[in-house]
Amino acid sequence: MTPTPETLARRTFVHIGGTGLIGLIAGCAGRSGTGGTGGAGGDSGGSGTDSGGSDSGGSGSDSGTPEECRDTRDDIEGPYYREDIPERDELDTVQGGGTVLTLTGQIVDNDCQPIPGARIDFWQADVDGAYDFTGSSAHFYGYQEADEEGRYAIQSIVPGRYLNNDQYRPAHIHVKIFVDGEERLTTQLYFEGDPYNEVDPWWSPETTITLDDDGDGGMISTFDFTVS
Ligand SMILES: [Fe+2]
Repeated sequence: MTPTPETLARRTFVHIGGTGLIGLIAGCAGRSGTGGTGGAGGDSGGSGTDSGGSDSGGSGSDSGTPEECRDTRDDIEGPYYREDIPERDELDTVQGGGTVLTLTGQIVDNDCQPIPGARIDFWQADVDGAYDFTGSSAHFYGYQEADEEGRYAIQSIVPGRYLNNDQYRPAHIHVKIFVDGEERLTTQLYFEGDPYNEVDPWWSPETTITLDDDGDGGMISTFDFTVS
């Protein structure tokens, strides 16, 4: 069965204590992140470096576009992007610990209209800050196609931090979005309250999510992406 935000919502409805993801998703169009508690995430070792690419950030480019529908800030791809990843709604295929994170949102265009079928790729480090980049599996890698309302929903964990040269990067989730097979966005989502945000050369408050307690020991958050 092809995973959809609806199926994930049904499966996690009990998990999140009856809050209901669909209502949360439906109420978040045009916004990027909602209130909540600070970010979590273990500061544990791991390896790897994020290098290369330029931080071509900056938000919005169309002066006549309402601010809430300006392009989501882009970010570096980093070295661990993979194309050979499965379609899935749960990125943690091993259940190796960490704080459960349910992330939902919508993909819209500059007219604030949903983009059904937009593909969204996710990849992140595990709780120890390590990427599964060996090609033998795809733990913490996965993609979805947005539903008819442009919505997505994944379940994962708050990723661990890892050293980039001699400096920890803040916890983050990498994202790519494709529309009609064309890449439209590469970015990263960061976590509010991470002590390494301010010292990271790529971090931006524009792509920083806030976390709410899901009532069952995990966290829930939402982020809407705008692509042109
Ligand atoms: Fe990374």
